[in-house]
Amino acid sequence: MRGALILLAPLAGATFLASRYDLDDCPGYIASNIKQLGQRLTADLSLAGDACNTYGSDLLDLKLLVEGQSENRLHVLIYDADEEVYQVPESVVPRPECEKEPKDSQLRFDYEENPFSFRVLRGEEVLFDTSDTNLIFQSQYLNIRTWLPNEPNLYGLGEHSDSLRLPTTNYTRTLWNRDAYGIPSETNLYGAHPVYIDHRGKKGTHGVFLLSSNGMDIKIDKTDDSRQYLEYHTLGGVLDFYFLAGPTPKEVSVQYSEVVGLPAMQSYWTFGYHNCRYGYQDVFEVAEVVYNYSQARIPLETMWTDIDYMQGRRVFTLDEERFPLDKMRELVSHLHKHEQHYIVMVDPAISHSDNEAFNTGSEQGVFLYRDYEQNELYQGAVWPGVTVYPDWFHTDTQCYWNGEFERFFNRDDGVDIDGLWIDMNEASNFCPYPCTNPAEYAENNNLPPPPPPVRPPPRRLPGFPANFQPGSSSPSSNHTKRSELIHETQNINKRISRNVTTKRIGLAYRDLINPAYQIANVAGSLSNKTIDTDIIHAGDGYAEYDTHNLYGTMMGAASRKAMLQRRPGVRPLVITRSTFAGAGAQVGHWLGDNVSQWDKYRVSIAQMLAFASIFQVPMVGTDVCGFAGNTTEELCARWAMLGGFYPFFRNHNEFGSVAQEFYRWPIVAQAARKIIDIRYRLLDYLYTSFHKQTVTGIPFLQPLFYVYPEDEKTFGNELQFFYGDALLVSPVVGEGEDSVQAYFPKDVFYDWFTGAVVPGGGVRTLSDVGLTDIPIHVRGGRIIPLRVKSSQTTTELRKRGFEPLIAPGADGTASGELYLDDGESIEARAAEIRFEFVQGTLKVLGKFGYHPTVAVEAVTILGQGRRRDGRHRVTMKVQIELTGPTEVKL
Ligand code: GLC
Repeated sequence: MRGALILLAPLAGATFLASRYDLDDCPGYIASNIKQLGQRLTADLSLAGDACNTYGSDLLDLKLLVEGQSENRLHVLIYDADEEVYQVPESVVPRPECEKEPKDSQLRFDYEENPFSFRVLRGEEVLFDTSDTNLIFQSQYLNIRTWLPNEPNLYGLGEHSDSLRLPTTNYTRTLWNRDAYGIPSETNLYGAHPVYIDHRGKKGTHGVFLLSSNGMDIKIDKTDDSRQYLEYHTLGGVLDFYFLAGPTPKEVSVQYSEVVGLPAMQSYWTFGYHNCRYGYQDVFEVAEVVYNYSQARIPLETMWTDIDYMQGRRVFTLDEERFPLDKMRELVSHLHKHEQHYIVMVDPAISHSDNEAFNTGSEQGVFLYRDYEQNELYQGAVWPGVTVYPDWFHTDTQCYWNGEFERFFNRDDGVDIDGLWIDMNEASNFCPYPCTNPAEYAENNNLPPPPPPVRPPPRRLPGFPANFQPGSSSPSSNHTKRSELIHETQNINKRISRNVTTKRIGLAYRDLINPAYQIANVAGSLSNKTIDTDIIHAGDGYAEYDTHNLYGTMMGAASRKAMLQRRPGVRPLVITRSTFAGAGAQVGHWLGDNVSQWDKYRVSIAQMLAFASIFQVPMVGTDVCGFAGNTTEELCARWAMLGGFYPFFRNHNEFGSVAQEFYRWPIVAQAARKIIDIRYRLLDYLYTSFHKQTVTGIPFLQPLFYVYPEDEKTFGNELQFFYGDALLVSPVVGEGEDSVQAYFPKDVFYDWFTGAVVPGGGVRTLSDVGLTDIPIHVRGGRIIPLRVKSSQTTTELRKRGFEPLIAPGADGTASGELYLDDGESIEARAAEIRFEFVQGTLKVLGKFGYHPTVAVEAVTILGQGRRRDGRHRVTMKVQIELTGPTEVKL
């Protein structure tokens, strides 16, 4: 038989204890009509006894579909026989292609007929095992549990700000996207990524992805008799599992990218340094910040503007006094002339007032309706006061969005942005549920806040056009602070549910507001501080109840298209707050409203690693120096050093907090100059490694266990990380500290700064790490394509020659890659160059489809000689053109 993927044999001798707290009585299902054809198995599942109707009514008839989709991916779908229950629309998350003739699968599917349960195995290793507890599939509640080995190493299930390796006792991960000011731990945050990696060291690694956008709790705990389990409690949808065979963490990441899509490639400039803040008073202050950066010789690649530029916080408008169009256009052209870039924010909520975006959208009917028949729009309250929300499911919304971009961000007479920042798209609604009177809420909460006073014109800014006039740079105090608006509503009034039945829901009765099972949404009820979950979308009539977690990702996809239409063929940078599985194919993500605190600085590493390596959203970073609260000189200097290794490197600060642009303190400025220098010299290494992820799924940022999967000491390490596969970064992690307890796996490492060999195989204390330092170590065996020198902009950087940095491995050899293209085109001609260092010879191989204007001008070899300055590195001048294969004896 070709492919022993699916075994029809029932599990031998399995016992079914059926012991389970309040779900005890549920009878489970019986499998019948089992058919197997090649790599595909189907069965009917029927309720095995009396319905238990725990949190809704049990569905009597289900279907099972099992597909060995590829050598290392097994798809298990349990769905309702009538096919009316909501499934994540393929238009939002396209399904992976099945291989026509999949090879023998590494994964095996075993099942028990009565009551139905299943196991997924890789060889003898049981990866997923639902035996002993009965499957529950109700109209508003699904429950399935898998047994796990004790003390498992589990990662993923974002978005969260907990440890990278998840706790294993009494731990609940709730997935329900919310505006999560302060990113508190053990709460649901902005995004939903229902995928985990189960790493079992020598026994291998696998991944489990549940493609569901319904609200859910995932519980990880032990039974009273100490059996470890992971249990899904979802509020609906179907059980759509993808099992990824691994058997290494890296392979799981690659296999996940085959399911949800490869991440989008970004333009070269996007990896430069970005500065932003909420509360810049006017365009002059923005200009002044740009000027101050250049005076401080801190390379600023991109300047950002928050909602401050808008008239009364209304998207697609300009505050005519503080951010007038002519001055905005001058600012942007000044930036462009100086090889810099500009980005502004767009929120989804549109002000319900007489403005073009509202008028056009309501004419086109693209907003969400409370009552479509009565022409009553659904209203909430966000920054501009009373707002309406685009319905991304409406077929005309893309056109509407494109139109607004075309009008407002027009390159000829609008604000010519280079990238886009989208926010508040969970979607956020400040007005607590039930938001019966958004106008009153807005009024009582000072929305929109009165704008700051217009300032008198002072002196001229050097370096800027004569008509640019700066002001003082302290944000005005009449804004409403974000923290003032955030108060979790404890007493959420209950409203009589409407029990909307729509096509696609198909179930006679669902309470879309207060389902009987309550997930641990820290915002309270499902609809609190967001769009009401009983709102029905246009098109196929999906309920917000089911699609809530997709809102941000759909806005991201629409915004990417709108940006592409402005600059066809150019990779659009869209940075979003809310994401769902697969979002990386369209957008990058910043980690939201963190706090200027050391714990948030530390956890940013785990968050970044989860997004970049597990969720396949590699364009990720957190607000450097912290968003909420006041940063300190020390924290900001350390954060600048760490931020230099975020793929997306942006300093952003809340309105009203102390100013934290890098030039504000001499030591922070020094730290910033130093780390940007290092980052830029490494930029082609970042670009190359990032590009590799976008074409293969191999994550370029990696937790240590990805690189050393058999070394148990790496499993819980979340404070060091690999930047590409050649650099180990070990930042100082605590206040007042100047040393790091860094773990070095068994391998050869070199100190980045001195070139000295650092043998691996244990913990080392790295001391005297000053505020402008960060320990970086190069892994032996790798070649890093450095630029010979850094520069003030990435455009200038591209004119610098190369200097491969050779770190010989234990056998004296090394290799590395360099990817080159024009830096921005989606369809780009490219060079994919490979460097090999063997017995003193450097070989340059590969494809040379793009010719850079510069050559390799020097080569540095680490661990060579010992110079008087304590350096163990030798640099030699060479001239190697990167236009074809060649080799040079060093
Ligand atoms: C949200 C964003 C934050 C932004 C603020 C004002 O809180 O997360 O980054 O500064 O809104 O637009």
